Amino acid sequence: MDAIRIYGGNCLDGQTTIQGSKNASLPILAATLLIDGICEIENCPEISDVFHMQRLLESLGCTVEREGTLIRVNTAGLSECDMPSDSVGVMRSSVMLVGALLARIGRICMEYPGGCVIGTRPIDLHLRSLRRMGVTIEENENGFRAETAGIKGAFLTLPFVSVGVTENLILAAVLADGVTTIEPAAREPEIQTLCDFLMQAGARIEGSGTDRLVIHGVEKLMPVRFRVPADRIVAGTYLCACMCAGGRIFLKDAPAGHMESVLSQAVAMGAAVEYAPDGIAVTGMDHESASEFIKTGCYPAFPTDMQSPFMVAMALSGTGGRIEETVFENRFRIVPELCRMGADITVHGNTAYIAGQSRLHGAIVQAKELRGGAALVIAALAADGTSIVTNRHYIDRGYEDIVLSLRDLGADVELA
Ligand code: UD1
Repeated sequence: MDAIRIYGGNCLDGQTTIQGSKNASLPILAATLLIDGICEIENCPEISDVFHMQRLLESLGCTVEREGTLIRVNTAGLSECDMPSDSVGVMRSSVMLVGALLARIGRICMEYPGGCVIGTRPIDLHLRSLRRMGVTIEENENGFRAETAGIKGAFLTLPFVSVGVTENLILAAVLADGVTTIEPAAREPEIQTLCDFLMQAGARIEGSGTDRLVIHGVEKLMPVRFRVPADRIVAGTYLCACMCAGGRIFLKDAPAGHMESVLSQAVAMGAAVEYAPDGIAVTGMDHESASEFIKTGCYPAFPTDMQSPFMVAMALSGTGGRIEETVFENRFRIVPELCRMGADITVHGNTAYIAGQSRLHGAIVQAKELRGGAALVIAALAADGTSIVTNRHYIDRGYEDIVLSLRDLGADVELA
């Protein structure tokens, strides 16, 4: 079955270890294509998006071995440039392979990538920027074919900040002929992690963690062993579960240093957060407190991926509030489902208005994308009665075993 059954109304009490970051693992796995030899990537989460990336690497001729959360990639057999459309179709981050493959074998043929249905999410800026680096791209209605005789460094001024574009261009630039400048670059922690990985392999990157990256192309990168940090979005999800359901939990390895906006929002909404060297302790929010306003944005602003879980917390808060989504259009697909559980939410344009003091009740609701699906599980934990969240496969894209983790945290949940 493809669902989760949740018996709501229990306070949380327990501890879970936060898995490795999805959004860091995916570009790092793509980056292994740039390296001749065997790379070992530790702490890769066992989630379907990473499994898809493994399959894509294999389909390109790499040997990929997994031992638990360690992935070993040997790129010695890298040869193909046609990617299987079933994996590309379900995962938007397959586009990240474009920069790396062009750098390594000079050509690629690919269908347009898929992923969560949270907006139109075109790849125009990826392709436009690669063209400026000496890549010829022919598009048709289903996909594109790209070729280059050698990627050239370029001064790339982007019209807006994009995580995926920044990552793709970094991957295209590290082995390029000359210097590439990316401005404005996204500053998400996962981009810093990608730069750390590449610099450990011998890349020359200046400005990691800032909005201006300068990349000096090098001849060759060396194989490395690298550990992926914990997932700040997964940590934020369980934090939000505790805010909504109440109780006290410990999130081992939660990367608090990269969760500033989420933690300060949680505290503003009456949750208590205590910092320990190996994680954070969270105590559920005071439901009398006010939540007022959240505006999503590029890091270090409030992450769009945390918007749906916090919508649930707002619905349960004393005053309610509003959420302005500035990154993706169509990221309020959870709203009708939450309303079926008793929430009172209206959407105008890119803003959701959420009435507070909702008394949520159990229902059968449908996950329509990854983070919205996790947010429905959170709502069900705080609801009276039993809920079923269907389309679990969306949640499995990003959470290693959400049922097990929530049980460790004291929730009454099971597969259905
Ligand atoms: C990444 C994250 C995702 C997160 C998002 C924003 C991964 C695997 N995914 O997604 O979890 O929600 O950053 O923090 O790391 N856009 C274009 N044209 C392009 C590229 C993007 O118009 O060529 C638009 C998108 O539709 C979106 C905005 O730019 O509206 C930002 O998207 P982007 O930062 O690229 O997100 P992703 O890299 O897809």
